[in-house]
Amino acid sequence: MDLRDVSDDLSQVLYTKSQLDERLAEIAAQIDADYERKDLLLVGVLNGAVMVMADLSRALSIHCEMDWMAISSYGSGTSSSGVVRILKDLNSNLLGRHVLVVEDIVDTGLTLAYLLENLRSRKPASLEVMAMFRKPEAARNDIEVKYVGFDIPNEFVVGYGLDYAGRYRNLSGLGTLAPHVYS
Ligand code: IMP
Repeated sequence: MDLRDVSDDLSQVLYTKSQLDERLAEIAAQIDADYERKDLLLVGVLNGAVMVMADLSRALSIHCEMDWMAISSYGSGTSSSGVVRILKDLNSNLLGRHVLVVEDIVDTGLTLAYLLENLRSRKPASLEVMAMFRKPEAARNDIEVKYVGFDIPNEFVVGYGLDYAGRYRNLSGLGTLAPHVYS
């Protein structure tokens, strides 16, 4: 789905797919350098991180493994509940692994805080985060995100894996959802 296909539902186009790809290539080069000769495990958070995981992993020149977790987040609303539950756990043992969590977006940071605490208790050799988008104005904690695609305004966005009520995940770029869609 292209940004033009849902232009009436968007109040602003933030990034086109080619802008996202360009930024991902830069981040992939950093990760290539930082994890050279290391056993890298990418941990994706379903469902939002599917697109960024697919594109980031293919932009890497180094080997990596991938695993997935599903945790509850927004439901169909547009504000964080702060309630986090593991719906699907990883298949891999993290002990001694170099783990990079791949996130679609860090909004309040509540989900990520929970996730990192949980993953840290499994004793990985290292634990870092890559987030495609981050909303600095919404942050409710100061979790370090080592690799950030773009800092964006504190508005509800859709596309590139991010949904509203289950829709727009397959939108190739990122846009701000127009208020008439959810009000
Ligand atoms: P946080 O706990 O507030 O950081 O929110 C984390 C999760 O909420 C993300 O992984 C997304 O699934 C969802 N989320 C946060 N902001 C947005 C948004 O603007 N659009 C769509 N989903 C969002």
